[in-house]
Amino acid sequence: MKAKKIILIGAGAVGCSFLYSAMNRGLASEYGIIDVNKTNVEGQVLDFEDGSAPMDYPFNVFAATYKDCKDADLVVITAGRPQLPGETRLNMVEGNALIMKDIAENVKKSGFKGITVIASNPVDILTLVYQEVTGFERKKVIGTGTSLDSARLTREISKRINVAPQSIQAYVLGEHGDSSVSAFSVATVGGVPLSQFAKKGRINEKEYPKIHEYVWKKAYEIIDRKRATFYGIGVNTANICENIIRDSKKILVVGAFLEGQYKNKDIYTGVPAVLGANGIQEIIELPISTTEQKQFDKSVKQLKEVVEKARKAIKNASSSKKNKK
Ligand code: LAC
Repeated sequence: MKAKKIILIGAGAVGCSFLYSAMNRGLASEYGIIDVNKTNVEGQVLDFEDGSAPMDYPFNVFAATYKDCKDADLVVITAGRPQLPGETRLNMVEGNALIMKDIAENVKKSGFKGITVIASNPVDILTLVYQEVTGFERKKVIGTGTSLDSARLTREISKRINVAPQSIQAYVLGEHGDSSVSAFSVATVGGVPLSQFAKKGRINEKEYPKIHEYVWKKAYEIIDRKRATFYGIGVNTANICENIIRDSKKILVVGAFLEGQYKNKDIYTGVPAVLGANGIQEIIELPISTTEQKQFDKSVKQLKEVVEKARKAIKNASSSKKNKK
C-alpha cells in the first residue's frame, strides 16, 4: 500500500483521540496537525512523536499548514467549539459554521484532491457547509454522522443478547443528535432479525424506547461527568478513515449526502453506506418501518431548518466583512 498522508484540522481532545487511534492502526506514514493554537500543536507533535519509535509502523508527525493538504490522502476535521453541559449540538451551529467555512476555503485553496472526513458538531450541518463551500464531490466529503450513535446502540443490544457488537447490524439514522432514529425494525444479529431474539425472550421489545433514549442521551451523560466526549468519537472517526484507506467496501454508518435515498434529499445525515478508496460508494437503503420513516423525515426537516441558520450566519458574516472594508 502506498504511504498515506493525513492532515488533522483541530487538535483538541477529539482530534488528538482520533490521531492516537489512527496511529495505533497504522493508517498513515505522515500526520500533519493544523490548529489555531500553534503552541498546542507544537506540544501535540512532540508528544505524538514519542509514540513513534516503539510502533511497528514508522510515522512522522508535524505541525502543518493548509499548503500541506495539497497532496494529502485524507483531511480530518474536528475543529470547533465543544458542546457545553446541557447544550444541544444544533445550538452551536452559528459559530461553528463560520469556523467551518474558513477551514473549507483554506483546504480548497491548497488544491487538495482527497477525501474529507468531518466530525465537528453539529456534524450533519457542518459537513454540508464544507461541501457547499469547497464544491468537492459529495461522495468524497463524509461526516461521522450517526456512526458513534450506532456503535452505542449495537453495544446496548450486545449487552442484552450476549452476542458481540461486530455480529450485530443495528443502525441509528438521521441527525447525530436529539432527533436521531434507532431503526430497531431492521436490526439483525448474524443475519437473523432482532425480532426473533425478542420472540425468544433474549431482549424485550418494550425496552426499545428506553434503549434509544439511553443512546441519544449518552453524550449528555458523558459531558456532565467529564465535560466532553472524545475517545468514542475519536475511534469511530479513525474507523471510517481506515475503511477508506484500506478500500474495504464495508458497510458503515456515516454522514452521507442524500439524493432521494430514504425519501429525502439535499442533506447530509446518518445512513449506512459502502465505504472504499473513493469515499462513499453507495448508500444502503433499509426497509425501515413507517414509524421510523416518519421519525427520519422529521429529523431531516429539523436539520434543514438549521442548515438555513448556518447559511444565514455565513451570509451575514461575509456582508459585515465587506462593509468593514
Ligand atoms: C458525541 C459527540 C461527539 O455524541 O457528539 O459523543
